[in-house]
Amino acid sequence: MSRTIALTGATGFIGGVLARRLETIGWQIRALVRPASLGARYAGTATQWIEGDLEDLDSLRRLVNNDVYAVVHCAGAVRGASQAQFDGVNVDGVARLVQAAREQHQMPRFLLISSLAAREPHLSPYAASKRQGEDTLATTAGDMNWAVLRPSAVYGPGDKELLPLFRWIGRGIAPILGSRSARFSLLYVEDLAESVVHWLNSDTNERRAFELHDGHPDGYAWHDVVDTVAQLYDRHVFRIQVPVVILRLLAGLNLGAAQIFGYAPMLTPGKVRELNHSNWVCDNDALTRETGWAPRVSLAEGLQRTLRLGD
Ligand SMILES: NC(=O)c1ccc[n+]([C@@H]2O[C@H](COP(=O)([O-])OP(=O)(O)OC[C@H]3O[C@@H](n4cnc5c(N)ncnc54)[C@H](OP(=O)(O)O)[C@@H]3O)[C@@H](O)[C@H]2O)c1
Repeated sequence: MSRTIALTGATGFIGGVLARRLETIGWQIRALVRPASLGARYAGTATQWIEGDLEDLDSLRRLVNNDVYAVVHCAGAVRGASQAQFDGVNVDGVARLVQAAREQHQMPRFLLISSLAAREPHLSPYAASKRQGEDTLATTAGDMNWAVLRPSAVYGPGDKELLPLFRWIGRGIAPILGSRSARFSLLYVEDLAESVVHWLNSDTNERRAFELHDGHPDGYAWHDVVDTVAQLYDRHVFRIQVPVVILRLLAGLNLGAAQIFGYAPMLTPGKVRELNHSNWVCDNDALTRETGWAPRVSLAEGLQRTLRLGD
């Protein structure tokens, strides 16, 4: 059996952690890198880098050819100003990569890193694109062995989305961005990487989407997260509930500015709808049953590592 994994997204937060974990346990990594991101390649490893883009089918053929055991598709657009921007990466990119994988004489297994957001595709262009990416894989995979992972919100060192918020809380100010009653699951990035390892090591042929989170029953409310950071820093934290109308206003302005100045925004009206969704709690049972994976890192431990407390 080949020990090579074709990986996308290795220059990003999750893909970088995943690549290093896979290399540590003896997998060879062939990773896609966009020309503009050559500087973001991690150093000191044996990763073979293939210059290309999800928009370029030939580069994807070079990525997956010559007997790769599996394709782990972790690249994705997490910010964007329009449905077309998300779809171009999260839907069309999946379609091209599946095509390249299926052209191989020895078809690899295919693991798509989607998102729990795909469970509620009506909420945002991002969520819709992740769901459509999953559907594209399911309908075009043919005989290929595939699965989808739907992680809840992922955090850890190197994260650009949640880490700034955790740092603010550590300084004593906690903007509460979602509704008070909203509950959500979280997942430490190394537990996500470990779930991929378990899927690769298992011989499961369950072609479906698997949700995953840190195992905390019934997820968290924002106040649980603030309490945990406050305990780690042993300080009082001042909480500010940001009214949803203000968030919507800021998101609308940000989206308008992004369309004018051509950047990819994170805070958009769709993101506000995601933040206000009442139930982002999920369930590990199916993935644990199929692969034996179970999360190990609690929120307190994960935050301690993420904020590098005690280093
Ligand atoms: N972070 C979370 O909380 C979370 C939760 C659930 C699911 N996910 C999913 O996990 C995946 C990784 O997320 P992340 O947080 O690690 O995001 P990230 O740090 O923004 O990384 C995204 C990766 O995708 C690559 N990419 C984007 N467009 C591409 C294209 N057209 N061609 C080739 N590569 C492209 C990026 O390459 P460049 O370096 O060149 O930009 C980067 O390596 C995404 O699919 C996301 O939907 C994330």
